[in-house]
Amino acid sequence: MNTFTSDRSAPDAAAVDRAEIKTGRRKLFVKSYGCQMNAYDATRMADVLAPEGYDETTDMADADLVILNTCHIRERAAEKVFSELGKVRVLKEERAALGLDMKIAVAGCVAQAEGAEIIRRQKAVDLVIGPQNYHRLPEMLRRAEKAGAVIETEFPIEDKFDHLVAPARAKVASRGVAAFVTIQEGCDKFCTFCVVPYTRGAETSRPVARIIEEAQHLVAAGVREITLLGQNVNAFHGSDEAGDPCSLPGLVIKLSRIPGLLRLRYMTSHPNDMTDELIAAHASEAALMPFLHLPVQSGSDRILQAMNRKHRASDYFDVVARIRAVRPDIALSSDFIVGFPGETEGDFQATLDLISRVGFASCYFFKYSIRPGTPGAEMDNQVPEAVKAERLARLQKLADGQRHAYNKSAVGKIMPVLFEKKGRHPGQIAGKTPYLQTVQVDGPEHLIGTIVDVEITGTSTNSLFGKLVEQVS
Ligand code: 5AD
Ligand code: SF4
Repeated sequence: MNTFTSDRSAPDAAAVDRAEIKTGRRKLFVKSYGCQMNAYDATRMADVLAPEGYDETTDMADADLVILNTCHIRERAAEKVFSELGKVRVLKEERAALGLDMKIAVAGCVAQAEGAEIIRRQKAVDLVIGPQNYHRLPEMLRRAEKAGAVIETEFPIEDKFDHLVAPARAKVASRGVAAFVTIQEGCDKFCTFCVVPYTRGAETSRPVARIIEEAQHLVAAGVREITLLGQNVNAFHGSDEAGDPCSLPGLVIKLSRIPGLLRLRYMTSHPNDMTDELIAAHASEAALMPFLHLPVQSGSDRILQAMNRKHRASDYFDVVARIRAVRPDIALSSDFIVGFPGETEGDFQATLDLISRVGFASCYFFKYSIRPGTPGAEMDNQVPEAVKAERLARLQKLADGQRHAYNKSAVGKIMPVLFEKKGRHPGQIAGKTPYLQTVQVDGPEHLIGTIVDVEITGTSTNSLFGKLVEQVS
């Protein structure tokens, strides 16, 4: 996998090094795993480090600083990180042989969960940094320079969201048309399978003024669609400019007044926090897109109870009915865990029934896997892997059928598409329908950043195809 040695020993590599020394610029490589929140955090870390002289590179071997931005949701997450770290260590040693430095940082939820254990097991690591501490990266790097390995996995209280603010001003030019903004972090729900309450801490909301400020900067840089992020985003409870409480629908209303901000989305939501007010905003706010990621995890009440979800399948059906009453066209998506401890064939059938009854635009399935420290890890009725795999295949088949039918039902319709980038082939541009489907269209690049009516003409596995309703040159 490692092309580093030959690359670096090429004659012009030395010239590049000399140029770097002259300009004082250094190279940063961030490898991000997992959720949108992590992808967003990766951009933030790059932003924080840009004023420190770091430019991003796509070549890990060329980096002065490698950050592994880890995800704890993945199966055997910590083990995979240690195996990846073994590979990075080899690159670090190869650079050292050439007299070049490489710092290694482990960020994200595995950093939060494992802390000092990471440095104990892999001595090549210089920094371990939890998600609440990214604004401290420059200072930590300086400390690591002087005193060796540094670990920061505290949950600071007052400045919890500070890492999200300053960089928003520093570098907004390259965000594209659709961007993410974190508005809430952490979770108090304690589902028995999930590490988030332990790795991301208690639920906290970002002040409204800061969110609006960041959104305004993004819009000024050309962003037209913002997805508001949070592990429990619909539990958002910020305070507004006057110090009054502001919930997610209130925030949506304020954001939709920003001129040039055409579309808003939010994820991930918990069924118990779908308030009437939030549902009403789906009817009244044109900028709020008719797409909702609303994980239910299982269709069995027995399993939902064991998961500590604090709702039954019937509550989920009720929420869906309330949303569809105001937005009949809403596209729904959900996460499901297959093979949670104690899941019987009957429980599994209830999940299949729920999927059939609701009708999803997209579903994400996860085989249950033990997260040390969570109640699920202590349960003694674990489901055999082979059973999980077999059930997963059945789920996938049902959901694939629904997704294809959903996409096919778009054919012949005219939809407003927000164009985001060049398409797959020359002369094509790609964008999103309100329902978060990707559409490829023959059209001119100047339409990127605008919403244009498109007639949907066909589908493939992952995209729709369409043609501009009015020909534009
Ligand atoms: N095992 C399998 N899937 C999990 N998820 C969270 N924790 C686990 C686990 N221990 C899934 C849930 C969640 C999604 C992001 O990851 O479905 O909604
Ligand atoms: Fe994890 Fe979501 Fe449950 Fe919170 S609500 S514990 S983030 S699965």
